[in-house]
Amino acid sequence: MFYTIKWTDDGVSMIDQRLLPEEEVYHLYKDYRDVAKAIKEMVIRGAPAIGIAAAMGIAIGVEKLSDDISKEDLEKEFIKICNVMKETRPTAVNLFWAIERMKKKFYDVMEKDFKEIKKQIIEEAKKIHEEDIFCNRKMGHIGQLLIKDNWTILTHCNAGALATGGYGTAIGVIRAAWEYGKKIRVFVDETRPYLQGARLTSWELVKLGIPATLITDNMAGYFMSKGEIDCVVVGADRIATNGDVANKIGTYSLSVLAKENNIPFFVAAPVSTIDFNIKSGSEIPIEERDRREVTHIKERVIAPEGVDVKNPAFDVTPSSNITAIITEKGILKYPYEINIGKLRN
Ligand code: MRU
Repeated sequence: MFYTIKWTDDGVSMIDQRLLPEEEVYHLYKDYRDVAKAIKEMVIRGAPAIGIAAAMGIAIGVEKLSDDISKEDLEKEFIKICNVMKETRPTAVNLFWAIERMKKKFYDVMEKDFKEIKKQIIEEAKKIHEEDIFCNRKMGHIGQLLIKDNWTILTHCNAGALATGGYGTAIGVIRAAWEYGKKIRVFVDETRPYLQGARLTSWELVKLGIPATLITDNMAGYFMSKGEIDCVVVGADRIATNGDVANKIGTYSLSVLAKENNIPFFVAAPVSTIDFNIKSGSEIPIEERDRREVTHIKERVIAPEGVDVKNPAFDVTPSSNITAIITEKGILKYPYEINIGKLRN
């Protein structure tokens, strides 16, 4: 099997998701700036996974500081490291959630001796990773209750082990249903332009032995209208307190198609994906990515140079199109404002 990200005594190790499914290459990062670059350049991607990477990047940054640093310089350096992590990707709130958690730990232990600070900062990053896997398994266990035997499930992008600390959110629900013995099949949207569905989700499902059928994004409506899809399960990058969900571009269109065809539309995400500071999806910053992802497939040009291009990486699905949000704390349904509000601590 593979792993997405791992803390080692020598640095942070990650599988290079840009090279999948052709090559399984692991890189070892020993500098926090390189971890930030890896997040920015999509070596690691997926909301929970980039949160874990940012936490481990911060831990590496602190670990590498000189032992005789003054408290004042330590704080300055720590803030600098956090700011570098913050600048990597704007949409997935798990990144900012993880940075805030590392900050809280830092200020809790700041008065201790530096050896102890390093130890506790590293422990916190490892804990964020472990907790994410635990949440995924719990979500899977809870979410599989919504999946019936013999169902065909459509998923979009990659919300699997590769997008998380391990196991997956949307794919975690699918995996759990499979592990409980349900005979299911998965339709995987290829997910243009970056092809996370074709390259990553189908790779994970083939490895797991779960029956998977790859389709291009524009085929989803066709299969829904023919009654071949029983439900949609996707992950999330940020959830507003009214239940609006930002996820990979194309998720909104799928939700509209699902509603039109009376198909349940489920979102699986840990509570760390809820942004308790925003009221609706319109407040979520949407990352605009390089035009090259649209005009090229790998090195191959598929559009003329002079054409204008837009490449928003995410869209927002209104909560009115969402049947349920599966979290590690339970299944949330309408009215989302009230039910999400209950999770606030
Ligand atoms: O641009 P990406 O690949 O980081 O986008 C990932 C997604 O949109 C996932 O669906 C989302 O992060 C959920 S992952 C558990």
